[in-house]
Amino acid sequence: MIKQEPDKKLIEKVILLFNEKKYLEALDLSNKIINEYPNSILINNILGVIHTELKNYTLARDLFIKVVNLNPKYNDGFYNLANIYNKLGEEDNAIKNYEKVVELDKSYYKAYNNLGNIFRKRNLNKKALEYYILTLSINPNYIRGFYNLAGVLQHYILDEKNKYINKFLLYLLEKKIIVRPNAIATNVINGLFLNTNVKDNFSLLENNIYPKNFNKIIELLNENKLLLQFMKVCPIPNYYFEKNLKKIRNEILNQIYNLNFKKIYLKFLISLSAQCFLNEYVYYETDEEKFKINRINERITNNINTKEINDLEILILSCYSPLYSFDWCKKINPSSQLEETFILQYRNYNEEKKYTQKIKSISEINDKISIKVKNQYEENPYPRWTNLGLSIEPRVIKEVIEDINLDIDLKKLHFSKNVEILIAGCGTGQHAITTASKYKNVKIFALDLSFNSLAYAKRKAEELNCKNINFIQGDLLDLKKLDKKFDIIESVGVLHHMADPLAGWECLTDCLKKDALMLIGLYSEKARDNIASIRKKINSLRIKTTKKNIINFRKDIFENNITTWDSIKYSPDFYSISGVRDLLFHVQEHRFTIKKIKSHINKLGLVFLGFEETYVLDQYKKIYNQKKDLYDLDKWEDFESNNPRIFSGMYQFWCKKI
Ligand SMILES: C[S@@+](CC[C@H](N)C(=O)[O-])C[C@H]1O[C@@H](n2cnc3c(N)ncnc32)[C@H](O)[C@@H]1O
Repeated sequence: MIKQEPDKKLIEKVILLFNEKKYLEALDLSNKIINEYPNSILINNILGVIHTELKNYTLARDLFIKVVNLNPKYNDGFYNLANIYNKLGEEDNAIKNYEKVVELDKSYYKAYNNLGNIFRKRNLNKKALEYYILTLSINPNYIRGFYNLAGVLQHYILDEKNKYINKFLLYLLEKKIIVRPNAIATNVINGLFLNTNVKDNFSLLENNIYPKNFNKIIELLNENKLLLQFMKVCPIPNYYFEKNLKKIRNEILNQIYNLNFKKIYLKFLISLSAQCFLNEYVYYETDEEKFKINRINERITNNINTKEINDLEILILSCYSPLYSFDWCKKINPSSQLEETFILQYRNYNEEKKYTQKIKSISEINDKISIKVKNQYEENPYPRWTNLGLSIEPRVIKEVIEDINLDIDLKKLHFSKNVEILIAGCGTGQHAITTASKYKNVKIFALDLSFNSLAYAKRKAEELNCKNINFIQGDLLDLKKLDKKFDIIESVGVLHHMADPLAGWECLTDCLKKDALMLIGLYSEKARDNIASIRKKINSLRIKTTKKNIINFRKDIFENNITTWDSIKYSPDFYSISGVRDLLFHVQEHRFTIKKIKSHINKLGLVFLGFEETYVLDQYKKIYNQKKDLYDLDKWEDFESNNPRIFSGMYQFWCKKI
């Protein structure tokens, strides 16, 4: 009988060549084998995989079709075929074949994941979410599935109970580099409301017997892992939570002031302390609370050398002021249960202080506005982030650029071997570290006015083992002192804080190589209409920028229910001191229109290449479906007129120097 499949050893040889990325040799050998075994499922399949790698997609498709015809029960064959249809843009055929895969094997999680991707691309987020949940419930270690889930959760509002989702949300909040907690905060809140008893638990704070039931409430909340983790990773952007957490903080203070050291408070306090630290103590404090804090502080100060201090006393104070602000803190040898809080509120602070001394400076800051802006960010580095969303793996620049769909001929795009990227106004490092994770083999220069922001950025870069960023202090107006021309410059949320944004933009353009790319982020006049009116009111009331005024201003907005300003309550920035300062109390803010951007681009000898944000682009494409429309700023202007809030996350666009 004629053998249908070749010798195992031959197959292994092809696989070895393939794994060593010797695709042409693998192809050669496979072609030889297939001549002898034309109906071998294995070799047809491998040949399909090789052609996929070589981007010969139609050849690959035909091979996989042959494979599944030879064996209609071969799920890997259907999976490969589905992937090829996906690459060829034949999504309906891809869906059919992924469905065939899961019909043959219900636990084939990658097929569910890819179905999720197709539905996400089609903006069918609910369906995509269902598939990602299915993927992760089969394989809870599939990291790519978590990235996809995080992606869809940023544009879909959870609206029904789900027994899995809170577990996955918890995982996303525990991981340092999958997603910015703020980006999924609304859904974490929804997940808490829909799938936990948090509302019932908080409602006990209003019960007639309160505070007799207080310990019970803490016990119940301690069981809510998602809530406790959420409190540790970002300011919770919701006043309902703020109101209740404030009340709990107050009652634990009462208990501890009265020397009632209940062990159950510990776990909750660790989270509450992190939450208060992250929001930079934005919660309003009563005079009675101030008095009690002072007394506990005195108690600790008096006892520090002679008696053991109860951890709960330390923790409750850290819910009102950072640990580093207490003189006695350096004398404490923290117990293991205090370690997390000590790292967050004491060790990190000291580490940043050390980094501040080490950061190199390119210039004295002379510009009057730059001095004011610097002072603001020295006092309140912004944003104070914990986790962020990095790329799964770095890729060569061209591949990354290809994905953004810019108005550019990729064949004419050339990058030198030593690509250098400037992040101008890098703040606390989120942007620079994210960019560093995207591109392979690049060197990043990250410049900012504020030493304290840079120190925060540097500490986080070290924590994430991000080695290719060089942090520099200085004014971007003095960039020529760096004596460098960059391959890419990115500056998001910076130019609109300068006295003359066009002058700043010109300095950036001067440091860009010819034909090189620039990413700019600017505030939109239309999208920030409401913020502009609040800023105007603050100015007319001559409210000085102090922490106390910011706290009182917020209290006023929440308690007096000024409905015209309601929308501000939905901004995550409204839930931390540095956020409110950046949002409403900034020393300098310009806002732009698309017309103005167009005129600046022309003046600077740049060419507009397209907007960055996928969500915005998807909305635009629903109305303007020609590729060239994507680069037509006049059409974008019309689009924004009809969707005034669309650029609430700033205009973020690419341009090129000609
Ligand atoms: C709103 S933060 C944005 C930070 C960062 N780009 C991000 O997206 O996370 C603005 C930053 O720009 C910096 N900045 C403003 N004017 C600058 C200037 N003239 N030169 C350098 N940095 C500047 C500020 O110090 C601040 O850290």
